[in-house]
Amino acid sequence: MSALFQPLTIKDVTARNRIAVPPMCQYMAEDGLVSDWHRVHYGALGQGGAGVVVVEATAVSPEGRISPNCLGIWNDEQAEKLAEIARLIAAHGAVPGIQIAHAGRKASANRPWDGDDHIPNDAPKGWQTIAPSAIAFGGHLGKVPVEMTQDDIARVRADFVAAATRARDAGFRWLELHFAHGYLAQSFYNDKSNQRGDEYGGSPENRARFLIETLREVRKVWPENLPLTARLGVLEFDGRDEAQMAESVALATRFRDEGLDLLSVSVGFTTADGQIPWGTPGFLAPYAKRIRQESGLLVSSAWGFDEPSFAQACVADGALDQVLIGKAHLADPHWTYLAATRLGLDSPADVLPDPYGHWLRRYRFAG
Ligand SMILES: Cc1cc2nc3c(=O)[nH]c(=O)nc-3n(C[C@H](O)[C@H](O)[C@H](O)COP(=O)(O)O)c2cc1C
Repeated sequence: MSALFQPLTIKDVTARNRIAVPPMCQYMAEDGLVSDWHRVHYGALGQGGAGVVVVEATAVSPEGRISPNCLGIWNDEQAEKLAEIARLIAAHGAVPGIQIAHAGRKASANRPWDGDDHIPNDAPKGWQTIAPSAIAFGGHLGKVPVEMTQDDIARVRADFVAAATRARDAGFRWLELHFAHGYLAQSFYNDKSNQRGDEYGGSPENRARFLIETLREVRKVWPENLPLTARLGVLEFDGRDEAQMAESVALATRFRDEGLDLLSVSVGFTTADGQIPWGTPGFLAPYAKRIRQESGLLVSSAWGFDEPSFAQACVADGALDQVLIGKAHLADPHWTYLAATRLGLDSPADVLPDPYGHWLRRYRFAG
C-alpha cells in the first residue's frame, strides 16, 4: 500500500489519504464575503482527490485581513456563505478545513499583484494595524503598528473564539489556527517583533502566552471529536536555528498538552531577511520530523513537496503525517490523480469522482 494513500484518522475524522491542500489566499473577496471565484476554486479542489482541503486565511476581524480582498468570518453573513464552501469541499469526500487568522502588522496591504505593499491609513481601503509592539515589518510593509493593550489582546482572543464557533456551525470539520508567517500570533512568538514588557513579552513562555491562551479558549468551543490544528513558523532561518528549534519543540509539546491534534510546520517569515533555502525541495522535512519525534504531535508541512515520490518518502520515513501541496494544486486541482498515476497505483482514477474517474479508468491519461 502506498504510504501517501494511507488514510489519516484523527478523532472522528478520516482523511482518505495523506495529501492536503494548505490554505492559500485568493484575494477575491469583497467585505470578507465568499465570491463565485471561491465556489469554483474550492469546488474543484474538493473534487480533486486530496484528503483535506483547508480554506485560505480567513480573518477573525476586519483589521485582521491581510488585504481588503481577504475572506472574513467575523459576521453571520460571511459564515453562511462559507458554509456553502464547506459543503462543496465535502461533497466528493474531502475533509473541509478552514484557517482562521489575524494578520497583525502585515495587514492593510494591497493584493500581491497590485504591489503587495501597505495601504496608507488615510487611503480609502487602508486601516491602522496592530501588533504586540510598535515595530514595523519593514521594506514594502513599513507601516508602524499600534502596540496592543491587554484589552486588545483579550478582544482578538475572543475574535478567534467567535470565528471558531462560526466555522464549527458552518460545517467545517478541521480547524487551523494561523500562528505562522509573521502574522499576529507569530509576531507575538518572535523576540524581535515582540518587545513587550508585560507578561506577553520577554521569556519564551511569555511570548507564547497569546498563542497558548488562544488555543485554550478555542479548544473549549471547537468540538472534542474534530481535529484542531495550528500552523507555526518553527524557525526563521536567521542564524538562530538551534535555539529557535529548541523553543519550538517545547511550544509544540505545550500545544499537544493543550489539546492540539496536529501542527503544520512552517517558516516564521517575521523578518524579510531570513536565509530560506528555497533551492532545497521540502527543506522543512528534517525540522518537521524533529518536532514530530520530540513533541509527539502529528505534523504536516509544505514548501516544495510536490514531487510525488518525495512526498511519499517523507510519509514513509516518518517525517510527515500529512503532506501539504500548495501551488501544484493551483496548476492542477487533480494533483492527487497525478500522484496516484506517477506512484503506479493499481487504479489511479479511483481517486476521482465517477464523472471524471470512469473515463480516466478507460483511457489512461498519465499526466
Ligand atoms: C497564493 C498563495 C496564497 C497563500 N496563502 C496562505 C494562507 O492563506 N495561509 C497560509 O498559512 N499559507 C499561505 N500560503 C502558503 C501555502 O500554504 C504553502 O505553504 C506554500 O504555497 C508552499 O507550499 P508549495 O511549495 O506546495 O506551494 C499561500 C501560498 C500561495 C502560493
